[in-house]
Amino acid sequence: MTLHTIILAAGKGTRMKSTRPKVLQTLAGKPLVRHVLDTCAAIGADSTVLIYGFGGQMVKQALAGYDIIFAEQTEQLGTGDAVKVALPHLPTTGKSLILYGDVPLTTENTLKQLVAANTAGISMLTLEVDNPFGLGRIIRKNEQVIAIVEQKDATDAQKAIKEINSGIYCVDNALLHKYLPCLTNDNAQGEYYLTDIVKLAVADGVEIATISPEFDFEIEGVNDRIQLANLERHYQAHQIRTLQHAGVQFADPDRVDIRGRLRCGQDVFIDINTIFIGEVSLGDGVQIDAGTIITDSTIGNATHIKPYCVIDGSNIGSDASIGPFAHLRPQTLLADNVKIGNFVETKKTTLGQGSKINHLSYAGDSEIGREVNIGAGVITCNYDGVNKSRTIIGDGAFVGSNSSLVAPVNIGNNATIGAGSVITKDAADDKLTLARSQQVTIDNWHRPTKKT
Ligand code: UD1
Ligand code: CA
Repeated sequence: MTLHTIILAAGKGTRMKSTRPKVLQTLAGKPLVRHVLDTCAAIGADSTVLIYGFGGQMVKQALAGYDIIFAEQTEQLGTGDAVKVALPHLPTTGKSLILYGDVPLTTENTLKQLVAANTAGISMLTLEVDNPFGLGRIIRKNEQVIAIVEQKDATDAQKAIKEINSGIYCVDNALLHKYLPCLTNDNAQGEYYLTDIVKLAVADGVEIATISPEFDFEIEGVNDRIQLANLERHYQAHQIRTLQHAGVQFADPDRVDIRGRLRCGQDVFIDINTIFIGEVSLGDGVQIDAGTIITDSTIGNATHIKPYCVIDGSNIGSDASIGPFAHLRPQTLLADNVKIGNFVETKKTTLGQGSKINHLSYAGDSEIGREVNIGAGVITCNYDGVNKSRTIIGDGAFVGSNSSLVAPVNIGNNATIGAGSVITKDAADDKLTLARSQQVTIDNWHRPTKKT
């Protein structure tokens, strides 16, 4: 059996008041439709057809790299018409999941269950809600689904039904090919309703299976910025709860955002106003203090990230101490027991075990050995305005405060650089190197006096 996915994404999303198509608005830092596509990839769909309308060029651009078939729905004549646009790309065997580019959070687990529930031709995702207004109602007779009636077509008795149609189905392709061409638009909205395939299938004796999602947010769509923000909060709360169940301590679960995937060891503590972006991994006993933003990085066991650090594309060893106010930029590789202090910036830099840069420094394009001490205010001058060059510092070196290391340059093992030096040539192992003018005292000098 092949499994296909059809994603409806032709809606403009007028209420977003945006130049971007709705499905490209972001939730947890990722376009809505990419949440859906990533879930489709996770369940192993054999093909995906995306139905687009407004902003097709932008949608295609944003989804370059995904293996999808784009099919244009030129006029929005209803959900039934939208799925019909996918038919030429759909085999006549196998099953299709029908999903929506603006319903981002249906889980892999729910979709797998939905596929498994389709044993007779159609399965659908329904839910009992307190306020069903505006949604399609599930009409049952002797427990069996016999139809879906839209709000605008419903009788008062039907409007009282609380079981609603999520709009998400798994349908045999043979049935889609059979019923979609038969849809008509003689209803209150003059639309081709996809929901009418249920009626047609029931008339053919097909039993409709239904399942419900584990979480309500799985079927929630996004039409405006308020719904988007609400769904974001639901999603964040869900992710944090999952991590709490796994043993992570959050000072305040409402003040942490995860925009990607956060993996944590045991006894991790995460303080308030922290943001995790992309793939972040924290070892056992890691402590992340307030205000820190970590992107695509790995942090080793028992490392302490002090307040207000920005860490991007970095790999930090165990028992390290970073910040407060440190900026680790991509390709920063720090070994165990490294200390990076306040107002230190690193980029494309490795530090060996036990090395320290404690205050007000920039280390870029550099390779720093073990047990090195970089004094306050040391700068690697890695850029001459045209090219970047490397600075190599040997094990056990001590670089005095406020020195400038003009790259390319090598500082030897156990070398000592006198404070305030501008080093333009290699410094020898084990020796003191100074590069600054001598201190002089002028005996007969007087301070200027005010002219009258
Ligand atoms: C549809 C269902 C309704 C269900 C509801 C859940 C139908 C007839 N009704 O409502 O039973 O409770 O979803 O939200 O299917 N779209 C297109 N092309 C179109 C029309 C819609 O791509 O021509 C896309 C929209 O961009 C949106 C989705 O389909 O992502 C649903 O459209 P919307 O108008 O919100 O749903 P309804 O038809 O009102
Ligand atoms: Ca509609």
